[in-house]
Amino acid sequence: MFTYERSKISYERAKQHLAGGVASSLRASMKPFPLYADSAKGARLQDIDNHTYIDYLLAYGPLILGHAHDGLTESILSSMRKGYTYGLQHEGEIELADLLVEVLPCADKVAFSGSGTEAVMLALRLARAHTGKSKIVRFHGHYHGWSDAIFTSFPGAGLGASVGDGEGATVSPGTSGQSANSLDDVILLPWNDPEVLASTLRSRSGEIAAVISEPVMCNSGCLQPKPGYLELIRQLTNELGIVFILDEVITGFRLGLGGAHGRFGIKPDLVTIGKAMGGGIAISAVAGSNALMKLIDTSAVNHLGTLNGNGVATAAALTTIRELAQQNGAAFKRMEELFVTLSAGIRGLLSKHGIPGVVNQCGPVLHMMFIDEPEVADFDTFNKRDAGKYARFAELMLSEGVLLRPNGLWYISTAHSLTDIDETLLAVDRALSQLE
Ligand SMILES: Cc1ncc(COP(=O)(O)O)c(C=O)c1O
Repeated sequence: MFTYERSKISYERAKQHLAGGVASSLRASMKPFPLYADSAKGARLQDIDNHTYIDYLLAYGPLILGHAHDGLTESILSSMRKGYTYGLQHEGEIELADLLVEVLPCADKVAFSGSGTEAVMLALRLARAHTGKSKIVRFHGHYHGWSDAIFTSFPGAGLGASVGDGEGATVSPGTSGQSANSLDDVILLPWNDPEVLASTLRSRSGEIAAVISEPVMCNSGCLQPKPGYLELIRQLTNELGIVFILDEVITGFRLGLGGAHGRFGIKPDLVTIGKAMGGGIAISAVAGSNALMKLIDTSAVNHLGTLNGNGVATAAALTTIRELAQQNGAAFKRMEELFVTLSAGIRGLLSKHGIPGVVNQCGPVLHMMFIDEPEVADFDTFNKRDAGKYARFAELMLSEGVLLRPNGLWYISTAHSLTDIDETLLAVDRALSQLE
């Protein structure tokens, strides 16, 4: 059994002057308590108690090239040597904008920010300015960042939830301190329900500026869109003068070079991209059609941010995307194959141990859950999972040398190998026997 003495001491120390003891509230949910990293390289991370883990947390998604990737580190260092950020323009911004327009099918133009939350804020603003309408349709179980205007209905973090279902569901704030009327413009719908979608959009099209959706419900069970569902959003939003925003903060540069919209052949009006785009350095983007992005050209919409497009972040994104683009995006195929193998292996081990569970995998993302259902294809079923049991499993996996997110979502990087997958499956086998 691992002990985490130094992490424990550090966490107690942190709580004295760092609010919450962690830098992002979600990290406090880790069991037995938040661990402290010392260093990391490739697919492995070492904590300050000298335990080494195969890492599937991957900093909550950004580390698509793994930790401390040589080429990425070099490009960050060489850009830092030339100055971190200028407040002036620099050619890296142009190169990155050109590259994004080349690889993202929906992009005529792009804008840079620092986080997924900010990218979503900009996309919502563009949609409202373009349509002159204010309501935003969003879906149960999706997460679009923590801004007042959209933070609601996210299970698992103990940060509040929405009640009701279908058209007219009550929308509750995601946290105390949110302005009482910040969610007045949000219409919360169940996802993957074509009838509710069509009736809501048709009956309220005069008020609705945008529909925002994750392409795959990565934040709640890695649920796939029903065949035709994203296409239906596209068709209805086109027909009714509503902006379609695809939130690709997770899926962008993870499900493929062209994101989920490239993979599924959907053309949203706007996409938001973050996480994997910078390989671990803070950068995000909104990409979309000229019709919307020109609102920034004409200054109708203000898009601000002191560190937007800084040299370090743009260099990191350029290198990350170019690495991923090599050999026609072969890295995506390889990561996917490894996750197919891992998912099949975990399913086999669950049945070997007689523990009911489901693994939903989509490309280089998977969600493992303990649940007595043959499949998890909708949010209501997902909510029946035994989240406590999974948190215990994640804790056992730490002692087996595997770092997991406590909510069931696993990421993989280009640095992971088949050996890592084999070792992970041995660890899962041992952890499941202890869980029994
Ligand atoms: C789909 C989605 N959108 C937006 C965000 C917010 O991104 P950030 O945490 O970078 O603000 C996240 C974060 O997990 C996300 O998963």
